[in-house]
Amino acid sequence: MRALRFAAYGLIVAVLAGWGAWWVLGGGASRLGLDTMGGSVSAGVTVGGPFTLTDTAGHTVTDATYRGRWMLVYFGYTFCPDVCPTELQTIAGALDALGPDAARLAPIFITIDPARDTQETMAGYVKLFDDRLIGLTGTEAQIAAVARAYRVYYARAERKDTTQYLMDHSSFLYLMGPDGKLRSLYRPGMSATDLAAALRSRLAGE
Ligand code: NI
Repeated sequence: MRALRFAAYGLIVAVLAGWGAWWVLGGGASRLGLDTMGGSVSAGVTVGGPFTLTDTAGHTVTDATYRGRWMLVYFGYTFCPDVCPTELQTIAGALDALGPDAARLAPIFITIDPARDTQETMAGYVKLFDDRLIGLTGTEAQIAAVARAYRVYYARAERKDTTQYLMDHSSFLYLMGPDGKLRSLYRPGMSATDLAAALRSRLAGE
């Protein structure tokens, strides 16, 4: 199981490294105006796209719901012991640092653990970080579809010491433009100040 997990991480690293190489060699980043990597990485391969999910009020939402605003998208789950709370704290801090500009942004937290993260669970959780944070859940199929679109890796990790389980998942932050297309991909672990600065320069450019 552990070996499998490392293999999966290795695959992600390899894919991302491949994209990175493509950007450097092909000048793709500057052509598409991306900070890092992503977008139309090669013919037919994109990051992001249509989704249908449920918000914390129980409304069905799609990617089109947020069109016209920037979307800052993060995938995780409410039971996450470390990375997710840290990243959501960072997002909340960046929103504060952005001031009024934060209104141009839809900060979206999509669960990759829909079995436990019901609409009610998500509602209570996102409120702990920031009232502006949009928590989205869905059926297993809907979550699988959006994760596939965003190239998100996630898998259940069983633990021997408890009946509860953890989820392994990739933790990138996706910045989608007002047209719904990928503009930037941020690594986990950025400070709120750095994230706010990156977002501010992005928002100022368009
Ligand atoms: Ni997490």
